[in-house]
Amino acid sequence: MSILLFPGSFDPFTLGHLDIAKRAARQCDKLVVAIMGNSAKKPAFTPDERVEMTKLALEKYENIEVISYDGLLVDLFKEIGCSAVVRGIRSESDFRYEAEMAMANRLLYPNYEVLLLPCRENLSMTSSTIVKEVCYYGGDISKMLPPEIVDIVTKGLKKGRS
Ligand code: PNS
Repeated sequence: MSILLFPGSFDPFTLGHLDIAKRAARQCDKLVVAIMGNSAKKPAFTPDERVEMTKLALEKYENIEVISYDGLLVDLFKEIGCSAVVRGIRSESDFRYEAEMAMANRLLYPNYEVLLLPCRENLSMTSSTIVKEVCYYGGDISKMLPPEIVDIVTKGLKKGRS
């Protein structure tokens, strides 16, 4: 069985992430979406909240499983026996970040592999950070998120502000 792994903070899971997950799931028998920690970021949502929202956004895709993992990406890579990690890229700066991360992960585990999928043109400005910023100042985030989670994200971010 071919397994791909799509890791990220997903704080929250956006339409950009959904596009990458759908396209990656077509290239394998099973796609594991892993909610992970990024020491450089302070998430707005807990890992459990992020898992719940990501599951809601992906529940109609039969070959996609959502998990959370608190540890190194290379350890999860080995644990699930995937052939590669999938990451989406929107820009040159994303590419540089991904290339650095790939090299670091390969130092830790030489069999580590990553596939980079360029995002769709209309989603190049969508990011979890932009979602949080727009929502913080009362803007409409419905065009950036899977419809199933728009209300949960809006309420969660408003609660965090009050
Ligand atoms: O959505 P993000 O924040 O860009 O995802 C980054 C993530 C979570 C994939 C990365 O920070 C990660 O792999 N975290 C787990 C810890 C780890 O293995 N770090 C080493 C990467 S060189």
